[in-house]
Amino acid sequence: YFSKRKERLLEGKKVLITAGPTREKIDPVRFFTNHSSGKMGYAIAKKAAEAGAEVTLISGPVSLSSPAGVTTIKTETAEEMYQAVMKYFHDSDVVIKSAAVADYRPVQTNEQKMKKKDGSLILEFERTTDILKTLGEQKEHQILIGFAAETEQLETYALNKLKSKNADLIVGNNIMTEGAGFGTDTNAVTFFRKDGPAEELPLQTKDQVAEALITEVHHLLKERLT
Ligand code: CTP
Ligand code: CA
Repeated sequence: YFSKRKERLLEGKKVLITAGPTREKIDPVRFFTNHSSGKMGYAIAKKAAEAGAEVTLISGPVSLSSPAGVTTIKTETAEEMYQAVMKYFHDSDVVIKSAAVADYRPVQTNEQKMKKKDGSLILEFERTTDILKTLGEQKEHQILIGFAAETEQLETYALNKLKSKNADLIVGNNIMTEGAGFGTDTNAVTFFRKDGPAEELPLQTKDQVAEALITEVHHLLKERLT
């Protein structure tokens, strides 16, 4: 009997993936962050490697281990993630930005632990670099994929991000949907394509979503060649 060998859809392709949250330091013991677990990005890295790609995973602080055959680089802040991504960007065929990058960081990081005082605390924040937007501006041959985790108006916001970031695909999900939030092992996403119709995928495991995304990337790379 012949067993059907798993297709290696991304053989030889260089795929750069970001995953997880970032941490923006307030003082030596405190930071500003979000609920991203990194599970979606790590699942994508694993499936891309299984599909034969040369995978570099730039990861924020998460409690997951590096998938087999993947080069994982750990970063903490949005700025560190940005610097790491820029190192690999020009040499990549595909960039998948699943990280939940903080939009703001404290203007000042206190060298010493801050002591509590009476009354309220006001911290001033400044914008971080929008990594995906920067990549969109510098895009050459790369396929650029972003994520949009929204609580409302998914289609409107996702399509805006597709345009404003010059992406080829935005993977959107409404985090209020049961089983599609942060930290879950499942996700319900919609593919918003630059050159094609939107496609709503069913609720499935993050591994299955990752497989669907690998198939989509394969199609995008094929389109690029024709
Ligand atoms: N992103 C990024 N760098 C940032 C912020 C976001 O690269 N500083 C990327 C994310 O990795 C994701 C995409 O941009 O792939 C969309 O992130 P999202 O937070 O949904 O969009 P924003 O443009 O930050 O807009 P907003 O948070 O206001 O919805
Ligand atoms: Ca954001």
